[in-house]
Amino acid sequence: MDAPTSSWWLEVLRLCRAGDQTAAVELYREKLISSGGFDVPVGLHLKFLDGGGFTQAAALIRHAGLHAGADVSSCALLRGGDLQNAVAEYRELFASGAATTKMVVNYMTCLSRLGAAAELAVVADPEHLFYRGRLIPPEDIPVEQFLSRVAAALRSAKERERNSKHRSGRELDRVHRTHLMDDPAIRELHAAIRTTTAEYMRKVAGAGHLISAWLPKRFDLLSWGMISEGIGYNVPHVHCGHWVSGVVYVEGEDPALSGADDAGLLRIGAGVDGDPGCPGWPDLSVAPVPGTIVLFPSYYTHWTVPLRRPGSTRISVAFNVTPVADVDSAAPVVERVSHQS
Ligand SMILES: [Fe+2]
Repeated sequence: MDAPTSSWWLEVLRLCRAGDQTAAVELYREKLISSGGFDVPVGLHLKFLDGGGFTQAAALIRHAGLHAGADVSSCALLRGGDLQNAVAEYRELFASGAATTKMVVNYMTCLSRLGAAAELAVVADPEHLFYRGRLIPPEDIPVEQFLSRVAAALRSAKERERNSKHRSGRELDRVHRTHLMDDPAIRELHAAIRTTTAEYMRKVAGAGHLISAWLPKRFDLLSWGMISEGIGYNVPHVHCGHWVSGVVYVEGEDPALSGADDAGLLRIGAGVDGDPGCPGWPDLSVAPVPGTIVLFPSYYTHWTVPLRRPGSTRISVAFNVTPVADVDSAAPVVERVSHQS
């Protein structure tokens, strides 16, 4: 996290004091973009700006911070801070329409540290926000045949990076930006994901949930493939900058059928920074059975368990839902690894 004394931040303050709030805001925006935005302590900076009477700069930076997916609360998870105050501030911000996935993650962490299980369960709400179903393949194609074409396209993709250390992945291959791949099977896969996602979005948008109002009315998908052979897995993480994420399994196996305990499972559970003993966290497991599609809020902390067996393979395509306008930009797909906060 950038400390309030970092050099670029001191330069922002200097520009404000010199009377050039426009240049200060411009510098701040550049920093938000270059750093990904999620870990810039925007709320703390706003406190300084408001305290100094730089209200114009504060208002613009607050807007930029929200757009970048940062946490604009003033007491975001300060160690030793007042959790009750933090929770009250988050509620106030959410009620005013100011929210990002990172803010919800931090809000849930505060709730769990307070032992506020009931409130935590309302935000997690897996009964309404977690979806697991079967992918509907294109017409007249058996699902196994369709998934085999998808797997072949991913294996041979030029975008495949062997043993990628990208984001949350460990010991696995990553196929970057599958939403841009010009392959018929991959395009059909995206059409199938869109169908299920549209239904999920429609249901959640009308449910009066915390995230209902912030779902994009028109959306597209940012996706990437993962190929794990034996030992590959993902560490616990969330997907900042988005509200809905998901995954489709192309190849894999049900550990319940092979007697392999939890091998290969997708797990959704307590946030790493929160109190795992608080009962309100979601606690879900998904077997990587080919054709399974899963959707959930991007603020769910999730990870995968290695298959462990040599020769076994798990292939999946993960995705974030994004407003249509973002797809044409070069914006990277961003995951936030939870234990790095
Ligand atoms: Fe993920």
